Amino acid sequence: MSSSPSSSWYDTLTSTPVLIATAVGVSFAAIFAASSSSSKTPQQVKEQVKEIKNAAVNAGDAKGKAAQTGASIMSAPATDLAPPKDDPISASDLAQYDGSDPSKPIYIAIKGRVFDVTAKPEMYGQGRGYNVFAGKDASKGLGMSSLDIKDAVPDYSSLNESQMNTLNQWESFFEKRYNIVGKVVP
Ligand code: HEM
Repeated sequence: MSSSPSSSWYDTLTSTPVLIATAVGVSFAAIFAASSSSSKTPQQVKEQVKEIKNAAVNAGDAKGKAAQTGASIMSAPATDLAPPKDDPISASDLAQYDGSDPSKPIYIAIKGRVFDVTAKPEMYGQGRGYNVFAGKDASKGLGMSSLDIKDAVPDYSSLNESQMNTLNQWESFFEKRYNIVGKVVP
């Protein structure tokens, strides 16, 4: 969660509540659908969703009110982004930036472009709700609104149209908030 709910924290990204609504719906579906092939037990998934939900609820009055009125409950876009870089980063290099070492940056790739999400250790750091996306290209999981580690993979070719839409919205969400530090190379 963003730690400083400023007066202008909500933004004009009106599609973001849709993303969360999708994520919430899918994650609840995932709780009930969680199968033995999943690496997490249904209870663990439930706990994870609860943790995220509590974080959202505790985010403060402003966020709660904005969520009720349909404004975005997401952090505001950044105003000071650096020009995107396309330095090559291998998947194994990327894996080192998974939040397990607090002295290193945290990276998340979407469609091969690597975003620096170091500013949000409370979301992406070790043990945190969205750590599943850290240190990898997890395009498929983002498109599926899935926090399941088995979905956190780069190949998103199986996504249907609405999942592609979700992935594209996350891509645009990240583009507005995080610096692009490179691209994943084989
Ligand atoms: C009950 C379920 C969920 C709730 C209540 C919830 C709530 C939230 C909230 C309030 C934020 C904004 C945090 C901020 O602005 O600082 C957020 C961000 C986010 N959520 Fe969820 N979420 C849920 C499930 C999911 C699922 C299943 C996914 C899987 C794709 C997901 C992916 C994300 C991502 C990628 C962010 C962006 C974090 C960032 O970089 O700022 N969420 N969520």
